[in-house]
Amino acid sequence: MKILFLNGPNLNLLGTREPDVYGRTTLADIEAQVRARAAQLKVELDFRQSNQEGELVDWIQEAKGKFEAIVINAAAYTHTSVALRDAISAIGVPTVEIHLSNIHAREEFRHKSLIAPVCRGQICGFGAKSYILGLEAAVYVNVIE
Ligand code: DQA
Repeated sequence: MKILFLNGPNLNLLGTREPDVYGRTTLADIEAQVRARAAQLKVELDFRQSNQEGELVDWIQEAKGKFEAIVINAAAYTHTSVALRDAISAIGVPTVEIHLSNIHAREEFRHKSLIAPVCRGQICGFGAKSYILGLEAAVYVNVIE
């Protein structure tokens, strides 16, 4: 089983970016943690980050037929991107939405996720652990259904 992890804009700055909100764990540290759990679950991973909306759209489109699931932290594009939502909807690969912070407990503009209706579910508010839970949810969705 292969799972594609996608990370949106500014997540390359994790570790130094607003540590009171996002913690001090870098994206590389998170990737290492996810890879360790994926090895236990015998899952293959691809783990990517882009600040470009179009690149994320391309990667989602290319996932069809190559990955059994996508786990995505679309970052700020969560709240703005019809293009990401349409790409997820178009390919039909089960997708899990994740966030480090609890977007519902923050500013009102973060409460709305444009991608949530086309994702299987949403995990938010558990810091770096949201990524592990996202991986486990993706495996669970594929194994059970
Ligand atoms: C985020 C939440 C978003 O609102 C924000 O724009 C991010 C990170 C999170 O992981 O908590 O960049 O997706």
